[in-house]
Amino acid sequence: MSENLGTMTDFSPDDSVMLKDVLRGLALPQKNIPSLYFYDQRGSELFDAITELPEYYPTRTEIGILERHGAEMAAALGPGVRLIELGSGSALKTELLLGRLEDPAAYVPVEISREHLLAAAARIAADFPDLEVMPVTADFTEPFDLPEPARRRVERNVAFFPGSTIGNFPRGMAADLLAATCREVGAGGAMLIGVDLVKDRATLERAYNDAAGVTAQFNLNLLVRLNRELGADFDVAAFRHQAVWDEDAARIEMRLVSTRAQRVQVAGRPFEFAAGEVLVTEYSHKYTPAVFRSLAEGAGFRVARTWTDPEGLFSVQLLEVPGAAQDSSGGT
Ligand code: AVJ
Repeated sequence: MSENLGTMTDFSPDDSVMLKDVLRGLALPQKNIPSLYFYDQRGSELFDAITELPEYYPTRTEIGILERHGAEMAAALGPGVRLIELGSGSALKTELLLGRLEDPAAYVPVEISREHLLAAAARIAADFPDLEVMPVTADFTEPFDLPEPARRRVERNVAFFPGSTIGNFPRGMAADLLAATCREVGAGGAMLIGVDLVKDRATLERAYNDAAGVTAQFNLNLLVRLNRELGADFDVAAFRHQAVWDEDAARIEMRLVSTRAQRVQVAGRPFEFAAGEVLVTEYSHKYTPAVFRSLAEGAGFRVARTWTDPEGLFSVQLLEVPGAAQDSSGGT
């Protein structure tokens, strides 16, 4: 284990939070389960497999943008950055940015999946031996304390939020998350965020209905997880994956459709599904640049730069908090 890898700060919610969320979501007229629960060990692996599918354009397009414009991004961020990655997953994109930053102060990956977090943090610590890597296990939508690097002064807090994970949040929650990030990075801070763009229905629906069926496995794995971790008794074979583009809401809706009338028990509580009834497992909102700009500005950011790919499929945007950076060293 590299000595630049700090001990993990653990703010992970306990299992009772998942149970409460699931019971609440299943009791609603439109049943849903928060998409955050996709990411157990198997779900994280399946997501990584999704990112390599030919139909799933976001990951490789965003990587292309980071490869092509990473140097400009690093120059715009400046030296002494404490890079806080929200939902770091395997952190495969992070190195493209970290490798170009001038004398970064620390890397703080924040991730709910503990195994994924530790593996990624260890890899980055090994690849960047001069960098303090300070992993935090947390649901990044909840407030968490930023670890302080021991060796370097933080010139600027920068939240890194690639992958268009912002798309998982309905508009109001996305606004709240951006506003909370704005406060977390503070005056002079910034956010570098990947935002998937609105495009034609065929491209979008293909990306979430891959021919190899990996997205279907990813979606159904949620039920496997609830059976294992919450003692639920979903008949996984009696649910079918579906993903549809809702143009008015500008989002992909991922569903599990009950193929027959059935009763499911979760922690001893019964939930009835009609034949054809839909359980919503994820929203993936897409943005136009104008709509995203108004969202970011409403949260207190200014859109300083936007980078896209030649086809205009995806964007990486630099959001800045107005004002001078605060001295975070704790002195005077
Ligand atoms: C990780 C939330 C960005 O919405 O595209 C991929 C998750 N779901 N395929 C997305 C996902 C189905 C992904 N995000």
